[in-house]
Amino acid sequence: MTIDLAPMEGLTDFTFRGVFNKYFGGIDRYYTPFISPTSTRYLTPRDYKEVSPETNTGMTLIPQLLTNNAEVFTNTCKELKEMGYTTVNLNLGCPSGTVTHKGKGAGFLKYPKQLREFLDYIYEHAVCDISIKTRIGTASLEEWDELLNIFKDFPISELIIHPRLLSDFYRGPVHMDAFRKAVDTLKCPVTYNGDITTVEKAEKFTEAYPDTARIMIGRGLIADPNLAAKLTGLETTDKKAIKKFTTELTEAYIEKFRDEKIAVNRMKSIWIYLSASFPGSEKALKQLKKSQNLVQYKSAVMQF
Ligand SMILES: Cc1cc2nc3c(=O)[nH]c(=O)nc-3n(C[C@H](O)[C@H](O)[C@H](O)COP(=O)(O)O)c2cc1C
Repeated sequence: MTIDLAPMEGLTDFTFRGVFNKYFGGIDRYYTPFISPTSTRYLTPRDYKEVSPETNTGMTLIPQLLTNNAEVFTNTCKELKEMGYTTVNLNLGCPSGTVTHKGKGAGFLKYPKQLREFLDYIYEHAVCDISIKTRIGTASLEEWDELLNIFKDFPISELIIHPRLLSDFYRGPVHMDAFRKAVDTLKCPVTYNGDITTVEKAEKFTEAYPDTARIMIGRGLIADPNLAAKLTGLETTDKKAIKKFTTELTEAYIEKFRDEKIAVNRMKSIWIYLSASFPGSEKALKQLKKSQNLVQYKSAVMQF
């Protein structure tokens, strides 16, 4: 089984990836959170930093793009290819209103005709492998059949499926019937993503889907940074590694943002998940959420 870290905007930027990769093992591939190229500028200086091989050493990274403009997608792939990337991922899963109301991310799934035209163009003009990360529809489970009919017509290098509808956001049960249908229908490699938070859940999944060799994990890996190591039989690290990881990441964020408050807010978003590694830490988490500056943040972290 191979484990990928899911892209998470606001959490898994290059700073996070670099420090995480130093302390925790078992991740096969990392993804950038979505990059939104436009027709005036494919990649901003910030995007370049996000994908630069120099800021992502020692790991396999796949850049993810969020756009519904086929030419922009293709031209951005050309720039990424020049940087050495051989696979680019298309985001068809983002449920955020600011993205979906422009017909991007999971919002693109609402327009099957335009989606097919988009895929026609990008695969015809492909300069590298193109994988897709998708949800199974926008508001009804019945949308999935039509979407699968589209996906099966393209040389998708890998389809990563988060089997929820746009309207589900990240809540409620995952729709495993829809995932099953994809595994039975598609010829391309299929990766599962959604709610894998423990070794038991991953094992239950692999028993049910022995031919699906890849799992992408997001929140579960921040909650338990050793989860990938546990799943791949690597040596796990102890709580001291979590301490070193969070200390180094806080310092890296202070240097990156040159603003302690922004760094503290970033770290708070991480601790919301990471606190699961510290059973009985509800009080510490409450204190941490309230922290307004670095001193208060550090004092709250000591409680963990
Ligand atoms: C805060 C947050 C940010 C996310 N950002 C992205 C993103 O940039 N690109 C993407 O494809 N998915 C994004 N996702 C979705 C995750 O990649 C993943 O599909 C989702 O969390 C379900 O997997 P999990 O249950 O293992 O966390 C985001 C999820 C969260 C919670």
